[in-house]
Amino acid sequence: MLFNRKKNAHEEKIDPHNLPRHIGVIMDGNGRWAKKRHLPRSAGHRAGADTFEKIVKYCDKIGIKAITAYAFSTENWNRPKEEVDNLMNLLYEYLLQAEEKFAGKNIILRVIGDRSALSDKINKAIDHAIEITNGNTGIVLNMALNYGGRDEIVRAARIAAADALNGKIGISDINEDYLDRHMYTADNPPVDLIIRPSGEKRLSNFLLWQAAYAEFWYSDINWPDFSEKDMEQAIIDYQKRSRRFGKI
Ligand code: FPP
Repeated sequence: MLFNRKKNAHEEKIDPHNLPRHIGVIMDGNGRWAKKRHLPRSAGHRAGADTFEKIVKYCDKIGIKAITAYAFSTENWNRPKEEVDNLMNLLYEYLLQAEEKFAGKNIILRVIGDRSALSDKINKAIDHAIEITNGNTGIVLNMALNYGGRDEIVRAARIAAADALNGKIGISDINEDYLDRHMYTADNPPVDLIIRPSGEKRLSNFLLWQAAYAEFWYSDINWPDFSEKDMEQAIIDYQKRSRRFGKI
């Protein structure tokens, strides 16, 4: 069943006492959105970036503590060079507007993923944008860039191996708590809800570790068309779920 713009959405309200603390978003469907309109894929990504801004603002307004947005995966390098360049340019453009987008706003920007493959230019722009948001107190926005869930787990395993080799920890110290503390999201609240629009129903290497007990919500709306109302509906549906964490 697709949880999509239900007719009675306006009658239902978000319960502010039961908000998902951390929401993950797979911003999918930009290409299909553009194709439907006979536009280049780049136009879809641009529209997707606008939606991203709108949704982050909305989440901050309603009191969500953290949002992680999948902007570029470790696998996205396999797209045609033109599209990769286009996504990187879009990202750079966005970061260059950091003052305007972040100064005096509530958003705390973080980037998760392997930044070593990003250009110096982009890395500098990321550092600058992060610095601007450092004093902010609102929502944490994790932009997942060159991010892969498997890569994140491998990275944590390598840190564990190095710590063990250096005698900082014993093998028995490598447990779920240790690995959790070595995920990019260690300082964030647990991911309670993962949203994927555009009709696909898979994680695609997003937040694999964190997804263990997250609720999954999907809809057939392409990301550029995703609205505050859709986010509201996702949260209302989330609040109806019975989360048992393996218990009965
Ligand atoms: C998947 O849609 C989307 C991406 C691979 C990129 C997501 C990036 C953005 C929304 C822009 C981010 C930029 C900023 C500045 C935040 P797709 O291209 O796979 O769509 P399709 O499946 O319909 O082809």
